[in-house]
Amino acid sequence: MGVLGDIGRRARGAAALFTQPLLPDDLLGTLNPLWSASEPHARVVGLRRETADTTTLLLHTPRARTPHRAGQFVGIGTRLDGVWQWRTYSVSSRPRDPRRLAVTVTAVPGGTVSGALAHRTPVGALVRIGPPAGEFVLPDPVPEKLLFVTAGSGITPVMGILRDLVDTRPHALDGAVLVHCDRTPDELVFGSELRRLAATTGLRLVERHTAAEGRLTPDALADAVPDWAARETWACGPAGLLDALAGHWDRFGDPDALHVERFVAPAPVADPGTGGRVTFTTSGITADAGPGVALMAAGESAGALLPNGCRMGICHTCVGKLRSGGVRDLRNGDVHDTPGQSVRTCVSGAAGDVEIEL
Ligand SMILES: Cc1cc2nc3c(=O)[nH]c(=O)nc-3n(C[C@H](O)[C@H](O)[C@H](O)COP(=O)(O)OP(=O)(O)OC[C@H]3O[C@@H](n4cnc5c(N)ncnc54)[C@H](O)[C@@H]3O)c2cc1C
Ligand code: FES
Repeated sequence: MGVLGDIGRRARGAAALFTQPLLPDDLLGTLNPLWSASEPHARVVGLRRETADTTTLLLHTPRARTPHRAGQFVGIGTRLDGVWQWRTYSVSSRPRDPRRLAVTVTAVPGGTVSGALAHRTPVGALVRIGPPAGEFVLPDPVPEKLLFVTAGSGITPVMGILRDLVDTRPHALDGAVLVHCDRTPDELVFGSELRRLAATTGLRLVERHTAAEGRLTPDALADAVPDWAARETWACGPAGLLDALAGHWDRFGDPDALHVERFVAPAPVADPGTGGRVTFTTSGITADAGPGVALMAAGESAGALLPNGCRMGICHTCVGKLRSGGVRDLRNGDVHDTPGQSVRTCVSGAAGDVEIEL
């Protein structure tokens, strides 16, 4: 990789002198996608099967990336049937080396991308990779009393946080509590590493095996962690659990002390409007965005490489300027049609034909 990186750097310099009208980056990306600066790629250099449906992909980027903070996520693009599909994955590795990182993907039944990444991506495959984003991170200094509540693949960003703490601030794990749920002990993602962590640090691990004990409720959580209200809490898991926790913290705790990461966007509005044709004016790509289809999803299906992060309206990575026409916010049905205004393409549909500067 080091040699390839050097060749890439030298080739970039030479190409900058000799290529027109192709930009050097276009040419280098054609020679080897790993050299492209504008469309960063990573190579899968290792795979680790965590459970029957969850796999960790170890990625290597030839160029140093923007470093992530523990708990953040990246966009991962993978080519399926000739179309680049993008999804968001939390970084499960510690932020030690800006050229290596890991994402841990659970195959969702019926999902387009997760099954392909978790089960059908070989070592050596190329994926695209976006910049890190997200607010699900610990503040500095780290709060004295930490609580993590996770279920299923929701452990992934917390694993990144825990691994980072072991490396950089192990004292913060002393007295911290992790309540982690999955169906059975064998299906608990990162189960053996977490048990080892609990045995070797001050972290208290509470496993809940839902096949035998049922789903975690706020009352069961309060039984397991009686001082929950005195702790700063990071929670990630299915929407039902997160909604229940948010309601509990609203009623009986301090809502500001609960930090939540959602993997699935809230349900869209019942009436998604008419849809329309979207034109991305920078790339010139045009696509049909049917009723309820986000502009981003429509553009990606037509081959557009669009900036994205959370894909659910929280990170503002995907914003483009509205040049003409109107868009509908798919979360609440509001229509916006003021030229020049910012549009989050991941949660906006077309309200008739629309042009977006992207
Ligand atoms: C900030 C953020 C971080 C994320 N981090 C991770 C991570 O570390 N590991 C990981 O495995 N996933 C993570 N996800 C979820 C991931 O981005 C995809 O949504 C997931 O892999 C499913 O993609 P898919 O293409 O297979 O399913 P899609 O084809 O997009 O959806 C198929 C169906 O599955 C449902 N669905 C989508 N995602 C989930 C889910 N996570 N659980 C249950 N049902 C779902 C959808 O509602 C839909 O009905 C994260 C999402 C966000 C927003
Ligand atoms: S991708 Fe995060 S707001 Fe759209």
